[in-house]
Amino acid sequence: GHVMELFLPFYPRNPNSPPLIRGWIPWFGAAFQFGKAPLKFIEQARIKYGPVFTVYILGNRLTFVTETENVLEFLKSKETDLDEAVQQAIQRTVSISKESFHQNRSMFFKLMVQQLNSSNLHQFSETLCEEFHEHVEHLGKEGTEDLSDLVRRIVCPTVMKTLFGKSFCPITEEFERHFQNYDEGFELGSQMPEFFLRNWAKSKAWLLNVFERIATDIKKDKSSESGSKTLIQHVLDNLHGNGASGYLLLLFWASQINALSGAFWTLAFILSNPSVYKNIMEDIGSVYGKAGEAKIEVFEDDLKKLPLIKQCILEALRLAAPGSIIRKALKPLKVQNFVIPPGDFLMASPYWLHRNPKYFPEPEVFKPDRWEEETLKKNAFLDGYLVFGGGKHRCPGRWFALMEIHMLVIILLYKYQFTLLDPMPKQVTANCILHCQYLDLFSLDT
Ligand code: HEM
Repeated sequence: GHVMELFLPFYPRNPNSPPLIRGWIPWFGAAFQFGKAPLKFIEQARIKYGPVFTVYILGNRLTFVTETENVLEFLKSKETDLDEAVQQAIQRTVSISKESFHQNRSMFFKLMVQQLNSSNLHQFSETLCEEFHEHVEHLGKEGTEDLSDLVRRIVCPTVMKTLFGKSFCPITEEFERHFQNYDEGFELGSQMPEFFLRNWAKSKAWLLNVFERIATDIKKDKSSESGSKTLIQHVLDNLHGNGASGYLLLLFWASQINALSGAFWTLAFILSNPSVYKNIMEDIGSVYGKAGEAKIEVFEDDLKKLPLIKQCILEALRLAAPGSIIRKALKPLKVQNFVIPPGDFLMASPYWLHRNPKYFPEPEVFKPDRWEEETLKKNAFLDGYLVFGGGKHRCPGRWFALMEIHMLVIILLYKYQFTLLDPMPKQVTANCILHCQYLDLFSLDT
């Protein structure tokens, strides 16, 4: 077997395998291109190699699937697997051992699905609303700031307190610094040993330490025994073995990163579309009365009365879909006329797929009304919409995320008049900076 392996690279390529892109010597060049400019990367590779192609990186074969229909197929297939695809990345990014991963994996996922189910959201809405108000309060009467910083300062602690419990929020400036550094290196950190990423590894260790302390504190805390448990208490109660800090960091990261960018882009698109902004203000006024006057209580049921905001969220997430979808092929898998060999990582980019004119006519245009009310009422998404992944492992936090962004938009726009000071970029990019000015509507009036 070993002799065969040694010579394998010299064998002629299986004619049924997709075209192979070799010689990407700085392999993390590919990682960077995909992370920061997925469109360009996929566009260029598609022109050269066609809709299915494999990139060989550090001993791994990443097979990119760029047609929506093929992606929907492999997401449904029993011959592909998520756990196999992410186990090593999880070990590298949050130090959960292989053993612990396999021991706790299905419990963790089931718990998320149960707890974050759409019929269960009411248990979070009160804390969310209260905490949003508290952190929005810090903005004061007026100011000018980078919109993404503004969103982060409000959303991070709010979500943390909602999922972890009010007395277990460690967010300080130091925490934010480490978390930002950790997030920026996350993609690379998931692909290479941390030995090569000293600075990133330091922040990771710092964060794990904090979450270890939180886990201990939460376990010691008896106050919840009478009341209802937080999401994290459920996780801690059911976890086997050590390594609680890894699960806490993983959940913290998963619950923050995509929702932050979603909230940022939703606000950016609303503020840069005057007629949409105006209609939303009229809707908010019809539900809560004259803007700015009171500290409004936003209930989960209210959200249904403000469908335009939800349409804007879904549409912003379509254009600014973060991340990639990844599975591993367990058996030879047919995609178009190719056979993908077992062991290949299957990669799909929602950002790319959401620009398919067959599913989304005029794909680059922000059009909230492509989301009809019927679709919203059924709690369904449009065909070809993959921002939350697909198949049985799609994002269990999706309803929570939509509710959270919905509430934030209502509370911010009710209280303040916003103006974007920078032009919107022609195309959505990571780390976009948009300054905004905000003015308390109540003091404007009086
Ligand atoms: C706009 C916000 C969000 C987006 C775009 C998003 C997107 C995704 C995607 C694409 C996946 C992978 C699904 C797949 O492979 O099919 C995922 C997984 C996951 N998400 Fe989200 N997510 C968001 C918010 C959240 C929130 C708020 C939470 C928690 C409260 C959360 C918790 C998770 C968890 C735990 C997983 C892993 C599920 C597993 O164990 O397999 N997400 N998310």
